[in-house]
Amino acid sequence: MNIIVPAKLNEKKDKMILLDQTLLPIETKYIEIVKVEDTWEAIKKLRVRGAPAIGVAAGFGVYLGVKESMAKTYDEFFKEFKEAKDYLASSRPTAVNLFWALDRMERRLIEEKDKSILEIKECLLEESEEILKEDQEMCKKISEYGLSLLKPEMGLLTHCNAGGIATSGYGTALGPMYLGQEKGYNFKVFADETRPLNQGSRLTAWELNEAGIDVTVICDNMASIVMKQGKINAVLVGCDRVAANGDTANKIGTSGVAILAKEYGIPFYVLGPTSTIDMDTTTGDDINIELRESKEIYNGFGKVTAPPQVKFYNPAFDVTDNKYITAIITEKGIVEPPFEENLKQLF
Ligand code: MRU
Repeated sequence: MNIIVPAKLNEKKDKMILLDQTLLPIETKYIEIVKVEDTWEAIKKLRVRGAPAIGVAAGFGVYLGVKESMAKTYDEFFKEFKEAKDYLASSRPTAVNLFWALDRMERRLIEEKDKSILEIKECLLEESEEILKEDQEMCKKISEYGLSLLKPEMGLLTHCNAGGIATSGYGTALGPMYLGQEKGYNFKVFADETRPLNQGSRLTAWELNEAGIDVTVICDNMASIVMKQGKINAVLVGCDRVAANGDTANKIGTSGVAILAKEYGIPFYVLGPTSTIDMDTTTGDDINIELRESKEIYNGFGKVTAPPQVKFYNPAFDVTDNKYITAIITEKGIVEPPFEENLKQLF
């Protein structure tokens, strides 16, 4: 598989090179980011998106935010770091990987407190690159565990994009599809379009097609018929935050797919790294769901599709209750219900 890394540093380590995912599938364009404000904008506008990729970009973003700091003391430097960190943390609320990566960078900073400012900057650079490297390794493991649950020739349904460009490697939900492709599994993948921003049709279909995987795009309201027609043997989705009891926030529409899957007796798998499991969030009710602007619904891609003066409600994520989830697949293994007990074993 041709691995695309959606957010990485340039060779001189003074800029972030970011795949602008808002332009896909029409244009594959990389942008250069230097300022913390531009990292914030890129996350907010979904130029970089998908929970693990947001975490990676945030790690680089906070490093770039303090790289040129002129602070003379640790306290001054820490204050500047905190400002950059808190600012980036305000970009999007739901994917826990954003906060996980920023907290990890802060922990490293505190650990290196006795070093010079220059050395601390080096350590922050190292930590941000480590987050990316680990992300690639976890994708591979998730893909292997995921594939162990599947058989050749299966029909698979996915929602949104939890692929290579949502991570730094094989992806999570799409990882087993890539690995299966390498082993000749010949999966037939159905990609939900994923309204309103079409991550399924714009990104998942693009990625899978580039890799030579058989992919069919359906509108979100077609999932039931393809399931009823027996075309789907398993549903694979990613996650933005998994609560301690297994309730899972993922792209809006995921919970509906899970409910349908249960009705039709189709296994519903959530795939994600342990950095997406938030043991401090007790249940899905405690997850902060991002609300996005109305324009994404009535004028998402340049054509007005509803009268702009009416009301709109645009939650970007929903929560799938744990009772609909067959298993949660992480880099540390496959977790089955009861999730409240079994997720604890991972930590
Ligand atoms: O709003 P997005 O595009 O960032 O939402 C992405 C998703 O919901 C993904 O399924 C999730 O982040 C997992 S990515 C491996």
